Amino acid sequence: MVSRTIPVDTFDLVIFGGTGDLARRKILPGLYRRYAAGQMPEAARIIGSARSEIDADGFRAMTREALAEFLPSSRGESETVDGFLKHLDYAQVDVKGDAGWEELKGKLRDGAVRAFYFSVAPSLFGDIAERLKTRGLAHDESRIVVEKPFGHDLATAKALNASLSTYFTEHQIYRIDHYLGKETVQNLMAIRFANLLFEPLWNAQFVDHVQITVAETVGVGGRGSYYDQSGAMRDMVQNHLMQLLCLIAMEPPARFEPDSVRDEKLKVIRALDPVPLADVVRGQYEANGSGKSYLEDAENPRSLTESFIAMKVRISNWRWQGTPFYLRTGKRMRARMSEIVIRFKETPHSIFGPEAGSKSNELTIRLQPNEGIDLRVTIKEPGPGGMRLVDVPLDMTFADALGPDAEEVPEAYERLIMDVIRGNQTLFMRGDEVEAAWAWTDPIIKGWEDAHQRPEPYDSGSAGPEKALELMHRDGRRWREVRA
Ligand code: NDP
Ligand code: BG6
Repeated sequence: MVSRTIPVDTFDLVIFGGTGDLARRKILPGLYRRYAAGQMPEAARIIGSARSEIDADGFRAMTREALAEFLPSSRGESETVDGFLKHLDYAQVDVKGDAGWEELKGKLRDGAVRAFYFSVAPSLFGDIAERLKTRGLAHDESRIVVEKPFGHDLATAKALNASLSTYFTEHQIYRIDHYLGKETVQNLMAIRFANLLFEPLWNAQFVDHVQITVAETVGVGGRGSYYDQSGAMRDMVQNHLMQLLCLIAMEPPARFEPDSVRDEKLKVIRALDPVPLADVVRGQYEANGSGKSYLEDAENPRSLTESFIAMKVRISNWRWQGTPFYLRTGKRMRARMSEIVIRFKETPHSIFGPEAGSKSNELTIRLQPNEGIDLRVTIKEPGPGGMRLVDVPLDMTFADALGPDAEEVPEAYERLIMDVIRGNQTLFMRGDEVEAAWAWTDPIIKGWEDAHQRPEPYDSGSAGPEKALELMHRDGRRWREVRA
């Protein structure tokens, strides 16, 4: 259900944790970009909140510094920044205590959309939800935005859902997975459902396998204590890679509307097979000359947490029976590269004979960087010498194809926050989706914990452990190279 009664040209967005890392790095710069693009209503107000003893001017000064630090230098023109800062206010509140709530309430306007962003540790979510409701800051149309991690396992996710739903209905809760706000991730749906070309082939009869890679060059330094409790499975697979897999594998929703899309994603998650330990490779990066090892970054010399994971996943439904999905993500890898590869099967019979060579089509969707799609097709190799076949790319880099506008693509956070204001939940996870994802993830994690499995070491700057390559080789397949 989406409320259409309150005009979105007046909104109060409260950011709990307004002085924190996420607010400074992503939320405030994202809102600034919207303002600079002329898309923030005059009557919009952004109220930072935290325990820090600062006033509105202090919050504006902090935000000015954050914009200077986290926006590209060409973006933060001072006049525009001044204009943006006028929308900002601050309320000092310790969300576990009683003080400050009345002052914050006094800043909220009747007739404005109210959104409360929980950019604080998840252990504080319940405190905020309870106080917002019982102290009358939130009404029935107010929205809350909840950051990841949404639980640590199924039990904690259920407890969190139960705690939030004591005070808010599902249509008021916006669970962020910032991958869903990425322009190219949304493009996945456009490519699938706005083109007739691919959909008839989008099934186990024609697709040999799918690869989803999210490789990062960064390590876990600076957030080792969080990451060491989490690992790649909880930090990336249970949410971001799962969402990508859902968008690739789901049936066409009837409409591009919240519950139509989320119902279809949920069906995919529920159709995932359990993954045997033999189909999972976990890795941990080593220093390899420069930088620190995972164990040093995590400050835990005995850690068994994985900074890399590769796995083979099967979906038991009519569309995908027999087509494996290979997922891979890791820190400190050779290059930052997120892409999805749809590898089609070979033609059933080659009329050109074995000497021509057999080829198959491949569709690559590059999520970041260098966003675009690349379709490899087979043609005759030019020149004399008979019919020899060769693969060539039909490559479309969005920035080239769409011109300068393509460089202005909104960042995930700015799009998602504006969707909250508009009351559109399509790109947010529903409670049952998150729980289903944990229900699939938990036994996999338990499998390696029960086996006291050590992650495989891999060199920083590599493509991950050798065993991840073998996971594909043993099926007669290969990963796409991790390259810049
Ligand atoms: P930080 O530790 O940097 O910031 C925490 C914020 O919460 C600060 O503004 C802090 O301000 C405030 N805070 C802490 N305790 C209280 C309290 N009792 N009452 C009111 N405010 C309080 O965390 P992050 O910004 O990194 O993360 C915030 C959330 O976003 C977490 O849930 C995290 O998991 C999630 N997240 C973060 C990402 C990131 O890149 N940083 C990425 C994805 C998710 P003060 O001390 O002044 O009270
Ligand atoms: C976050 C994870 O959710 O996503 C991080 O907690 C990861 O570990 C990040 O680095 C990746 O996001 P992006 O947008 O840089 O691909």
